[in-house]
Amino acid sequence: MGVKITETILRDAHQSLIATRMSTEQMLPIIDKMDQVGYHAVECWGGATFDACLRFLKEDPWERLRKLRDGFKNTKLQMLFRGQNILGYSQYPDDVVEYFVQKSIANGIDIIRIFDCLNDVRNLQTAVNATKKEGGHAQVALSYTLGDAYTMDYWMETAKKIEDMGADSICIKDMAGLLIPKKATELVTALKSATTLPIDLHTHYTSGVASMTYLKAVEAGCDIIDTAMSPLALGTSQPATEVMVKAFQDTEYDTGLDLNKLIEIANYFAPIREEALKSGLLNPKVLGVNIQTLKYQVPGGMLSNLVSQLKEQGAEDKYEEVLNEVPRVRKDLGEPPLVTPSSQIVGTQAVFNVLTGERYKVATAQTKDILLGKYGQTVKPFNPEVVEKVLGEDAKNAITCRPADLLEPGLAKFEEEMKQYKQQDEDVLSYALFPQVATEFFKYREAQQTGVDAKVADSENKAYPV
Ligand code: CO
Repeated sequence: MGVKITETILRDAHQSLIATRMSTEQMLPIIDKMDQVGYHAVECWGGATFDACLRFLKEDPWERLRKLRDGFKNTKLQMLFRGQNILGYSQYPDDVVEYFVQKSIANGIDIIRIFDCLNDVRNLQTAVNATKKEGGHAQVALSYTLGDAYTMDYWMETAKKIEDMGADSICIKDMAGLLIPKKATELVTALKSATTLPIDLHTHYTSGVASMTYLKAVEAGCDIIDTAMSPLALGTSQPATEVMVKAFQDTEYDTGLDLNKLIEIANYFAPIREEALKSGLLNPKVLGVNIQTLKYQVPGGMLSNLVSQLKEQGAEDKYEEVLNEVPRVRKDLGEPPLVTPSSQIVGTQAVFNVLTGERYKVATAQTKDILLGKYGQTVKPFNPEVVEKVLGEDAKNAITCRPADLLEPGLAKFEEEMKQYKQQDEDVLSYALFPQVATEFFKYREAQQTGVDAKVADSENKAYPV
């Protein structure tokens, strides 16, 4: 059996390189060809795409999913799901998580890749159960990171817990490109011995080692690798699909994919890349090797967020200082992996610590929440001095249970708040995750519809003058 390929150009690749701005209109003309390739899956939804659809593209993400499903008749569709944080930045009640999973699958998703930013497996269970209940494939991702706590034993134990909770496959989610080839051999071998589940490796090219890492991982028995069509590959995105297909050709890991078909697809996306380079949406800087990732272990997306945060404050000269502060804040907060939303929490706090000139003089609400246990349990304990300074008296309110156990069901309340805009059941979920952005989108949608209706009425009036 050859290695299987999950194609990411419709999700992670454009999220990583062009700020998640690929529109549905840009996707649709090529999906029939993509459907004939024989990919294991196409990752095309979830992650930041949902927010970006509503906020920047003024598109209904659910409508996008239905259109993709219509076009992909043979290929499994995959989404990325942030566990109890769904596609947002804080924890949601179980009823919202369950309903989101139900609607994702009902609208066309086959595989849900579920991860937690702290690798707290309690935050995965509701989404895994819901996926199984709806007949979907539950793939659980380990958020890969480095640090004292993250030993091979740690990864093996976590993988066993994931298998026990009913997952169908495991993904090693290396969002920063920290997994070097030799470690990939060790990690895949360890996970293969710990569980019987298929292993999918997801990495980014940010640090320049990704395709070597894939080679080693596949040789060690990795079942699936995530790649992106070459026009949106490399840099902060994934290794290129065509290159990996070629590299494994005529070996025991041959993907069986037709390179000529892939080239036709690459030709379709090439002008989209050129356009993005011209408009500045694709910054050539993100295409090179970023050695800062190797040094600070910071994912590419987080680096560009830090740059824009500092720009807004007119403090770009503090970039290096902030980068040095990131690993310190990360240690203070229990050394979590840096992935949404923990990457934002650590990054923003690092910016505050540097710009105010005093560490934790100002703590963000999210920093307080993570210290209160509201995101779950970190692998390492918090820095007690930081807890004292940030929480003070409030420290006694810290929780150790699964955070969502303390959340009241939310759907009825969200439904009540947004019912005047509701046009489909899924709208309540868009609202639950992004109340302001979704409301603005709903208003825009209504205006478009009345605008179009007015035009029709107008032309009818002209056709049938009274
Ligand atoms: Co990724």
